[in-house]
Amino acid sequence: MPDWLEKAVFYEIYPQSYIDSNGDGIGDLPGILKKLEYFQYLGINAVWLNPCFMSPFKDAGYDVSDFYQVAPRYGTNADLQTLFVEARRLGIRILLDLVPGHTSTECAWFKESCQAERNIYTDWYIWTNSIWTWNAPGVQTVIGYSERDGNYITNFFHFQPALNYGFAKPDPNQPWQQPVDAPGPQAVRRELKNIMKFWLDLGASGFRVDMAGSLVKNDPGCQETARLWHELRTWLDTEYPEAALVSEWSDPTVAIPAGFHMDFLLPFASPAYQALFAMKKIEAASQDVSGSCFFDPVRPGDIQRFLDSYLPLYQATRGKGFIVIPSGNHDTTPRLGNGRTPRDLALVFLFLLTIPGVPFIHYGDEIGMRSPDGLKSKEGGYGRTGARTPMQWDGSPNAGFSSAPRDQLYLPVEDSPTRPNVAAQRPIEDSLLNQVRQLIALRLAHPALCASGTFDPLYAEEGKLPFVYLRQQGEEKILVAINPSAQPCEIALDLEPSREQPECLYGEAAAFRQAGTQWRVHLPGVSGSVYRL
Ligand code: GLC
Ligand code: CA
Repeated sequence: MPDWLEKAVFYEIYPQSYIDSNGDGIGDLPGILKKLEYFQYLGINAVWLNPCFMSPFKDAGYDVSDFYQVAPRYGTNADLQTLFVEARRLGIRILLDLVPGHTSTECAWFKESCQAERNIYTDWYIWTNSIWTWNAPGVQTVIGYSERDGNYITNFFHFQPALNYGFAKPDPNQPWQQPVDAPGPQAVRRELKNIMKFWLDLGASGFRVDMAGSLVKNDPGCQETARLWHELRTWLDTEYPEAALVSEWSDPTVAIPAGFHMDFLLPFASPAYQALFAMKKIEAASQDVSGSCFFDPVRPGDIQRFLDSYLPLYQATRGKGFIVIPSGNHDTTPRLGNGRTPRDLALVFLFLLTIPGVPFIHYGDEIGMRSPDGLKSKEGGYGRTGARTPMQWDGSPNAGFSSAPRDQLYLPVEDSPTRPNVAAQRPIEDSLLNQVRQLIALRLAHPALCASGTFDPLYAEEGKLPFVYLRQQGEEKILVAINPSAQPCEIALDLEPSREQPECLYGEAAAFRQAGTQWRVHLPGVSGSVYRL
């Protein structure tokens, strides 16, 4: 386990939307390089950079056409290397986005694979043995794409053909389903390792792995996919022990034993996440899966709903890897900022930055950016597009994102006179931005609050508030209390009285009181408090 993860605080950067340095309307790497000062100010020490590789950008770069080349719209490989080096000089590590499961149909490997004549790429993708074999169970196929007599399997959109990692249980009646140890799948594995090696050697600190659980097909329990990651992790541990892997899997009980250091709970797939924030399912945007979520100031839901699904995952993975509850990501609308005040958001961050595991902040969430509704889809964004709008740096018409004419921006900036921005919040002491900074600094200053400090809910009662939990590491014990409701709350806490006067580290100074042999916790509406015992 790379040591640095214990104190890592990540920031997700969508390169096309962060900052444009050359006025073409698209964010780029030289732009990001100029923002290292902002990363330091904010206090983050790690970045997840969404895909920045060659691509026709039909899925915003998750359709890679050359895994070894930065897309010209973002800069050059040299620009990326400079960013790695300069960031590292400031103690900031950068993870790239690795898309192992599929390529673009524009990838040279796929074009070769489309040929009717056999060549070395023939078995790099999954093709049925004839175009008439099209209703393969459990997979999606594209029919009659080339002169090759077969249909290819896709992973996501139709232009993202699945690389061939084989089938865990190939159907003997479907000889085109190759076992994982067949030459094609083995060659693809070797290539995946080459790609990882290439970027690690250039200075990347690891990878966020796209659709990490999807590689081997017909793989009940993902056993063969897990074996593949285990092999790669074993290799990393010897060759690149400082490199970190975080998976888009949303099943830490599988992803972490498989070899990932961290796994995301995905907003659209994780009941734990939805118990906190009531996201909408992407597959059924109209179907609200909320019930009522905990961070709802009007009618907060029970924290027990979160704990019921989170605690088993936490207990199963403790000491082995970290769970990531991100503030959001490029796939998730609405953003947390929609329908929440800065005060609500500061409380959300108090939680996200004091729970175990590794925090990830989606760019712009630190200032409360909102995802606009009704945007025209861009590069395969569809309902996700609102989470990808330009970062809001200042109050100028393009929000300081770009000097390009407004109609040439990658996506429109949120069109609202009240849109938040960095320049306005920096000088204000209790702005959301400054509270997030303070919370990051607080986390980093206290081992109990860092990734592997233990987590024990002390007060989590149905229909009652606040939620109180204890974090502990070594000698240090820290209590956190959270009241998401607009109403004040007061409870008695079942906890040993402490000998010394506890110290308020953040938030409501009078929240915890020792009254005789008891503790009392009192919190005003929408507030929280952090105390050291
Ligand atoms: C992941 C990415 C998403 C992309 C998809 C296909 O879910 O986060 O943006 O469209 O994989 O690669
Ligand atoms: Ca640019």
